[in-house]
Amino acid sequence: MGKKIQTVMFLMGALLISGCSNDTQSNDQNNQQSNEGNHHMMDDSTMEHGHMSHDNVVSLKDSTGVNELNIPPLLTSDATDRTEYTIKAQTGKVDILDGMTTETLGYNGDLLGPVLQFKKGETIKINTINELDQETTFHWHGLEVPGEADGGPHTTLSPGEKEQIEFKVTQEAATLWFHPHPEGKTSEQVYKGLAGLIYIEDSNSAKLEIPKEYGKNDIPLVFQDRIFDEQGQLDYKAVMNEDGTIGDTLLVNGTVNPVLPVEKEQVRLRLLNGSNARNFTFKLNTGESFVQIATDGGFLNKPVKLNEVTLTPSERAEIIIDFSQLNSTDDLSLINEDGSILLPFDVSHQEVDGTERSEQLNDFAVTDEEKNMPVTKNIELFGMMDHVTINGKKFDPERIDFTQEQGVTEVWEIYNKKDMMGGMIHPFHIHGTQFKIVSRDGVEPKENERGWKDSIAVHPGEKVKIAIQFKHKGVYMFHCHILEHEDNGMMGQIEVK
Ligand code: C2O
Ligand code: CU
Ligand code: CU
Repeated sequence: MGKKIQTVMFLMGALLISGCSNDTQSNDQNNQQSNEGNHHMMDDSTMEHGHMSHDNVVSLKDSTGVNELNIPPLLTSDATDRTEYTIKAQTGKVDILDGMTTETLGYNGDLLGPVLQFKKGETIKINTINELDQETTFHWHGLEVPGEADGGPHTTLSPGEKEQIEFKVTQEAATLWFHPHPEGKTSEQVYKGLAGLIYIEDSNSAKLEIPKEYGKNDIPLVFQDRIFDEQGQLDYKAVMNEDGTIGDTLLVNGTVNPVLPVEKEQVRLRLLNGSNARNFTFKLNTGESFVQIATDGGFLNKPVKLNEVTLTPSERAEIIIDFSQLNSTDDLSLINEDGSILLPFDVSHQEVDGTERSEQLNDFAVTDEEKNMPVTKNIELFGMMDHVTINGKKFDPERIDFTQEQGVTEVWEIYNKKDMMGGMIHPFHIHGTQFKIVSRDGVEPKENERGWKDSIAVHPGEKVKIAIQFKHKGVYMFHCHILEHEDNGMMGQIEVK
């Protein structure tokens, strides 16, 4: 199919979606500035030079709150004296929508995966098994592991193949995740359901006074937007957008129209933007504040008070909402920037004994040395649709773009070069390590970004400096985490020696 025709068909699809969600409440409050990074919703006037506008993304349908949120199981170890997990990528069938069965992919189940728990200092074995009818890989996003255990596109498992990997957990407590990474096929496999969370705990997280009861006041939340066809299927090829596939239907932990029952207490939400391309700005519908306690790779030094938090694809944030301190808990929900209801809360009327909350959480710092280091690597993100590049090049599995020495800190500058449409946010991610943001356009990052990161939103025209060190050797990917951009070659490789 020619590019033009594809574009036109895509446009028609996008307009159709906008048409259906127009009657939802959320669409009334039109979102101008929100999701400046995504360029999906457009009308004829925004088509220019065959390119699409960077503004306006179809709103999500409000969650009606009729389904209790699914809480993924915690995976149990195969052994009692050590941590050995078995993870199978498999096909599944789930009744997500009423009266319809959706064909999905999942890890050890029909859709998404269980939560893996690692302890810092432990050696972990994972038996990975591919029961799909296509190649896949098992990538541990945010985990500091040797290149060969990282699950990048070089380490594919064919259908039926198994592999045991082993690594030591050397990093601090954090919420990470795992997903497939086969070259050119990542978007579709994630879209259909392959993703799961990893919790790392350490002696610090063990002693902190923060909510820790899994599924009760410590809640995993994987946010993903999808498009279901009339048969209730996730027909990726039909809805795929080269510039990032955006859906009108939200799944949280695989649940459509979710509601989260909570007690009147502090509740910790571990937010993951697991979407292919959509950005989320999470806030309470009352406008009241909450605190953020963790970034992608660990705790912030202190809880940071916020009214909203934005996550681009693959970013995580842990927040605590104190339901005992809110003005009213009736009709309370987590909403997106444009007002669409993401997750209604069903708050019990009974007060629970207020728990304390630690005010000192970590000792993260960007050192003066790191602040003054010269830039030694430049990354230029550019383009849209399938014309996306890094430093003018598309991914080539045979080409190593950079090398860096193990254990040596360098400063990289990531520049998002605008295009003639103004550009879009690219969520930039690096494998195998956690890094520090030194500055954004020369300015210290906001308080809630002063923590370990493995993915960062780089805005059009922006230059972000990061201080980065790799603890292990190997070949690692760096790429845009809009999954279609990644699959379209907006990815490079660094070899750590
Ligand atoms: Cu979330 Cu290359 O990964
Ligand atoms: Cu990754
Ligand atoms: Cu991108």
